[in-house]
Amino acid sequence: MTSDPTRELIPPAYRTKVVEPIARTTIAQRERLLHDAGHNVFHVPASSVAVDLLTDSGTGAMSAAQWGSMFTADESYAGAASFDRFRGTVSEITGFAHVLPTHQGRAAEKLLMRALVQTGDVVPGNGHFDTTRAHIEALGASALDLPCAANARSSTAAPFKGNINVNALADVLSSDARVPLVLITITSNRAGGQPVSLDNLHETAALCREANVPLFLDAARFAENAALAQRSDVELNDSSPAHIARAYFDLAAGCTMSAKKDGHGNIGGFLALRDAALAKAITPSLILDEGFITYGGLAGRDLDAIAIGLREALEPDYLRERLHQVDALWQMLHALNIPLVAPAGGHAVFIDAGRWLAHIPWNEYPGQSLVAALYRTGGVRACELGSLMFGLLPDGTERRAEHEFVRLAIPRRVYGHEHMCYVAETFARVAEMRQSLRGFRVTSMNEPLRHFMAKLAPL
Ligand SMILES: Cc1ncc(COP(=O)(O)O)c(C=O)c1O
Repeated sequence: MTSDPTRELIPPAYRTKVVEPIARTTIAQRERLLHDAGHNVFHVPASSVAVDLLTDSGTGAMSAAQWGSMFTADESYAGAASFDRFRGTVSEITGFAHVLPTHQGRAAEKLLMRALVQTGDVVPGNGHFDTTRAHIEALGASALDLPCAANARSSTAAPFKGNINVNALADVLSSDARVPLVLITITSNRAGGQPVSLDNLHETAALCREANVPLFLDAARFAENAALAQRSDVELNDSSPAHIARAYFDLAAGCTMSAKKDGHGNIGGFLALRDAALAKAITPSLILDEGFITYGGLAGRDLDAIAIGLREALEPDYLRERLHQVDALWQMLHALNIPLVAPAGGHAVFIDAGRWLAHIPWNEYPGQSLVAALYRTGGVRACELGSLMFGLLPDGTERRAEHEFVRLAIPRRVYGHEHMCYVAETFARVAEMRQSLRGFRVTSMNEPLRHFMAKLAPL
């Protein structure tokens, strides 16, 4: 191995203190498990998965400091010291004075939307997450995605594909539409974990100020957004991730947060607000739906673990390694000529299964075919984001999804380079049999959110 002697040596960010064995299964066993699961990997037992890339949500490894804090946590119903530490950390990172704990991100979304949104309203954003959209629509309002133009060119790399289309937003804000808030998701999960630039958020904030509409952030991956922004924006070179993240929060009236991502929590979330009156108005719903204002559906030990996890998520060495790992997997798959969403996102690699398995028509779910092949071949669990997930209409008919993607979401601090190499090796085997892969049909539970519950049969 050759090494540049002028470059500072950077050691890996972690060593392992606790190990969890991965059970070995044979192809024959995985075929049986797939069959029993109706070819839907949501129903495969996790104990039979070798590398689990289904989601990065709540699946991360906690640090020794987080585990340690759980022993000294305060489980008092009201006024727990754990809540003080949680609130202190959230306020310090975000600058928002009012912190409402929730059991996970979607509960924070529900509280915010119910407080601000009415029937007939329009809520624009760069790309709403599914649960956000569902909460807005449940109130009889529309969730309007306005992704930037670069977002449509999935295989062409651009630094800030999570940006909102500010011209389209300006049009909406100057129209007759009633807009109670604008919500920007950092990073944009819909766009494969692509970041939003600080310039784009400045422009969005200016438009919101002019229209007197509050701007909120979905901050689930705020630290990854800061790290990706730093990588692409030379003006941020000398800033810390914490400083950059704060610049984003300073432009907003508040944020919803799933602490299961950049909070390094296995559960948890919060709604953080600048406005005392809004926080006061939401408090009764918080108590009714989640719990008292100092725990909100969480144990004291979760509050402490998240307080520490939020700080750890902003550590430069951790973020460097995190982005490097996602990028390394992206590069290995790219070297196999697999069509990918470019560039690598902050938390996931997206494969364009519609292009890679072009012989399988959209209504036979090429993404699901790839997901099943990855599990069968190597016990790698991935997630379809295509016509199986998005194609079913309320009247029972199907439409073609915008893309036939498969997502490899990488849990935080769980896997090392050898796991990524194993995933790439699994893809290399699948590549050899690519032309022989077949599509699927749905045999039962063809209902809303069917990707979770549907049973399928190979064609
Ligand atoms: C961007 C984004 N917002 C909100 C949520 C919902 O968070 P939770 O799963 O904690 O309810 C998710 C979950 O994946 C997400 O990715």
